[in-house]
Amino acid sequence: MAQQLFSSSPLSCPSISHRRHISLFNNGLLLLVALLFLLGAGSPLFMFPNRSSSYSSLPSDWRDYSLAQAAKFVAKDGTVIVCTVSYPFLPFLNNWLISVSRQKHQDKVLVIAEDYATLYLINEKWPGHAVLIPPALDSRTPHKFGSQGFFNFTSRRPQHLLQLLELGYNVMYNDVDMVWLQDPFQYLEGIHDVYFTDDRTTIKPLNHSHNLPPPDRNGVTYICSCMIFLRPKNGAKLLMKKWIEELQAGSKAYEGNDQPAFNWALNKTAHQVDLYLLSQAAFPTGGLYFKNKKWVEETKGKHVIVHNNYIVGYTNKMKRFHDFGLWLVDNNAFESPLGKLE
Ligand SMILES: *[C@@H]1O[C@H](CO)[C@@H](O)[C@H](O)[C@H]1NC(C)=O
Ligand SMILES: *[C@@H]1O[C@H](CO)[C@@H](O)[C@H](O)[C@H]1NC(C)=O
Ligand SMILES: *[C@@H]1O[C@H](CO)[C@@H](O)[C@H](O)[C@H]1NC(C)=O
Repeated sequence: MAQQLFSSSPLSCPSISHRRHISLFNNGLLLLVALLFLLGAGSPLFMFPNRSSSYSSLPSDWRDYSLAQAAKFVAKDGTVIVCTVSYPFLPFLNNWLISVSRQKHQDKVLVIAEDYATLYLINEKWPGHAVLIPPALDSRTPHKFGSQGFFNFTSRRPQHLLQLLELGYNVMYNDVDMVWLQDPFQYLEGIHDVYFTDDRTTIKPLNHSHNLPPPDRNGVTYICSCMIFLRPKNGAKLLMKKWIEELQAGSKAYEGNDQPAFNWALNKTAHQVDLYLLSQAAFPTGGLYFKNKKWVEETKGKHVIVHNNYIVGYTNKMKRFHDFGLWLVDNNAFESPLGKLE
């Protein structure tokens, strides 16, 4: 059952797409070179930005930005909004960015680029808003599926979040197959350590509890690792450490999906961490929002962030956003700090 649920939402999870773009990037170097030409940056100088004066106006040498430098550059009011993106998902990033910009939070966005093509493209169009934390995703990094190296790679998300917490920032993590309809920050009530959403489709009363939901009859919870807000407190750091531990101890059962490990980490630290389950009506799973018209009608006006999960396949996902009027990039690309891509 758990398998079914998680395999129904693979694209919401960047890590599970590794196998897909590992093949896409089989000719990684070639693609990168081609891309640089497309960007009009085919000059050899571009490859050695230190020697290029045209980039001296950038806030720093962003090619070698550390996470700490990048976070310092984008953070506003001690908060950063982060997402992780590989090249094939740039259209989704742009779509999400438009919705974030409409809520006037785009300045705090830091894109963790998984490959150099993504890093270059974003920093070219929007200097300082992308960072790459080596190693880059690349077919030349031979991490055998299920190996320690592979798990180290998939456990990078909590590692990055933990590092941002250690630096003292509030961190909002989002998958980029999301769209903001309202400002989520006003829903982060109180001063809890960690805020998250339930990925279950079972309808709850509007006044449902904000505690970690009890495990289902299989003994598991379905908290989504797609949207997490963390305050730089010990509880949040502890949860991230436990998540990393769970991923690294994890068997192949996780299949590169970090969500089950996140749920086990929540289960094991629940008594030490101040957790806050966000409202279902405000932060619905895609399994509800895109599949239950009646519920959507009943909760009209309450939706804050919509997640396009519970669907398999890149084009299906894009089409569904389209069908629901949530594919904003076609007509509104000018609202994104990246502008129109390609
Ligand atoms: C994986 O991470 C562990 C702990 O951080 C480290 O000791 C180990 O060398 C890493 N292994 C690989 C193959 O990257
Ligand atoms: C929600 O509202 C119902 C009906 O008013 C009430 O019986 C229930 O206790 C409430 N639940 C919570 C968690 O507050
Ligand atoms: C943790 O999981 C176990 C096994 O499913 C369950 O019995 C327990 O109630 C869970 N604890 C919390 C705090 O959810």
